[in-house]
Amino acid sequence: MQLIDQYLRKINYLRVSVTDRCDLRCVYCMKEKMQFLPRKDILTLEEIERLCDNFIDLGVEKIRLTGGEPLIRKDIIKLIEKLNYKKDKTNLKEITLTTNGTLLKKYAKQLKKNGIERINVSLDTINPEKYNKITRFGNIEKVFDGINESLDEGINIKINTVVIKDFNEDEIEKLINWTDSKRIDLTFIEVMPMEETDVSREYQFISLTEIFDKLNKKYNFKKSDNNTGGPARFYNSDNLSTRIGFISPLTNNFCASCNRVRVSSTGKLFMCLGQNDYVDFRDIMRNDYSDNYIKEKIRFALNIKPKKHDFMIGSKINKYMKRHMNVTGG
Ligand code: 5AD
Ligand code: SF4
Repeated sequence: MQLIDQYLRKINYLRVSVTDRCDLRCVYCMKEKMQFLPRKDILTLEEIERLCDNFIDLGVEKIRLTGGEPLIRKDIIKLIEKLNYKKDKTNLKEITLTTNGTLLKKYAKQLKKNGIERINVSLDTINPEKYNKITRFGNIEKVFDGINESLDEGINIKINTVVIKDFNEDEIEKLINWTDSKRIDLTFIEVMPMEETDVSREYQFISLTEIFDKLNKKYNFKKSDNNTGGPARFYNSDNLSTRIGFISPLTNNFCASCNRVRVSSTGKLFMCLGQNDYVDFRDIMRNDYSDNYIKEKIRFALNIKPKKHDFMIGSKINKYMKRHMNVTGG
């Protein structure tokens, strides 16, 4: 079984936000004062599993749990354990996680035990004061401990760094050296206009294509053949033992090879991170519709998956999505 969208892209990757809440408040992601959703609006773990089952039946091979911060969801390990059982019996091949890392020390062992082999950790700086500032109150030591514990458990870690103007541009080489010394991959991400934050996107945004060109003079990058089919373009360098990835939705469009869709913590299926359209599955599930009906709706959604995202950041035009990143988890 395969899920093919209207532009003949094979969709085999589902990202599921398990909570809109987070224990940090990164300034480019959230406002200082956020209104989180009441519990009744959030899918139960059973509802999440049911939705995943239907996607897996239709051909989804990879599921990523995101948030908010997925590890603050109560009983998240139980969900992972259930999904992990499906790996032998269904299309599902991999379960991964995107986390801010603050709770990894506590959970690394249980994650590994339940089949998590790869984790993306979001970390925008390795400077403790700057980390505290960008997350509004975070303690970087927790993240370092979590990363080390995960590595000790034999979990593959990749660092995701959002490059922010006048904040961490000057730290890029330091981050490259740090991840290289730990032998973990690193991906840089452009700031995307997901809803308004307390600072205008214009003041946060910096082009990764420009940064790539500058770095390339030093690292003489070679395109890695080992690309995962995702939006990141990965590069090797003779000066480095690890790969560096670049995700540049605003300056280097990758939509033609998009293989994913996203479910929000409330059960809305967003066909594109950079569009506002969605199909709501929560009411369908809560109104006792059949799995066949859910599958029909999933196929319908894929038939209206847009060709491209609609992001734009500029001095005259900004095209914002009507939701923060914590709704769909990046
Ligand atoms: N633009 C780009 N990345 C963002 N993230 C959160 N908000 C934004 C944004 N507006 C990132 C986080 C994390 C991932 C889930 O999304 O830093 O790496
Ligand atoms: Fe939380 Fe991630 Fe948003 Fe930071 S970027 S506030 S860690 S969800």
